[in-house]
Amino acid sequence: MSSGSLLSAQGLVSGYHKLKVLNGVDLAVGRGELVGVIGPNGAGKTTTLRTIAGVVRPWSGSVKLDGIEIAGLPAHVIAKLGLGYVPDTRELFPGLTLGEHLRLAHSNLGARSGEDYESAVRRVLELFPPLRGRMSQKVGTMSGGEQQMVTIARALISRPKVLMLDEPSTGVAPRIVDNIYDALKELKGTMGILLVEQNAALVFEVADRVYLMDRGSIVKVGTPEELLRDELVRRTYLT
Ligand SMILES: Nc1ncnc2c1ncn2[C@@H]1O[C@H](COP(=O)(O)OP(=O)(O)OP(=O)(O)O)[C@@H](O)[C@H]1O
Ligand SMILES: [Mg+2]
Repeated sequence: MSSGSLLSAQGLVSGYHKLKVLNGVDLAVGRGELVGVIGPNGAGKTTTLRTIAGVVRPWSGSVKLDGIEIAGLPAHVIAKLGLGYVPDTRELFPGLTLGEHLRLAHSNLGARSGEDYESAVRRVLELFPPLRGRMSQKVGTMSGGEQQMVTIARALISRPKVLMLDEPSTGVAPRIVDNIYDALKELKGTMGILLVEQNAALVFEVADRVYLMDRGSIVKVGTPEELLRDELVRRTYLT
């Protein structure tokens, strides 16, 4: 899977200060593939995404994005190479409008795609009907779910090769969770997607393959059908 994949991590080790969190993570996302990562609290899911995105520095291991080694590069360089990242913390500016978020992201990263701003905005708003007509609204006045959509729209504005999302359903009203997952189904096949969720049922519904992570390592991988046949997975994640 790793040769020829769009995104791959091999033997990824990282952590915080002296605390080692990732014990050699191997994962891969193929072209057009939607890959899920599930696992208990503290398993290292967020740390995996942060390390791939360059927010946390890898201690060792390799990360390749479309054939280019990105491990150890700064986050803004990795973003420019085509990695879209939707962090669990969202990292929005409450006093800026939706339009200002999209404009900033497009002027920082949009040059990579060559797509003009207006077309890019039309493309992302197509995916998120609730955001239409809200370009001049400050994001601090939006609901949690709307803010989550803004975070995803901002990551998509530069047409990333791979989109990584960390718990996009957390703190989001059910109707908006549906909207976000409809958007992911729409995007599926057009880019690589790496989706982290604690809500395994959501992941099993959309993913082509799922990794189960525990204590800093990948402990199982398979299609949703394969993982659902595993009694321990069923009992732990789907009750
Ligand atoms: N900024 C930090 N500084 C120190 N330790 C951290 C930091 N962030 C996470 N950790 C520790 O790293 C480990 C893995 O955390 P991580 O957030 O990657 O797990 P997770 O799988 O995303 O969990 P959750 O399901 O709760 O989001 C945990 O033991 C956590 O306490
Ligand atoms: Mg997390």
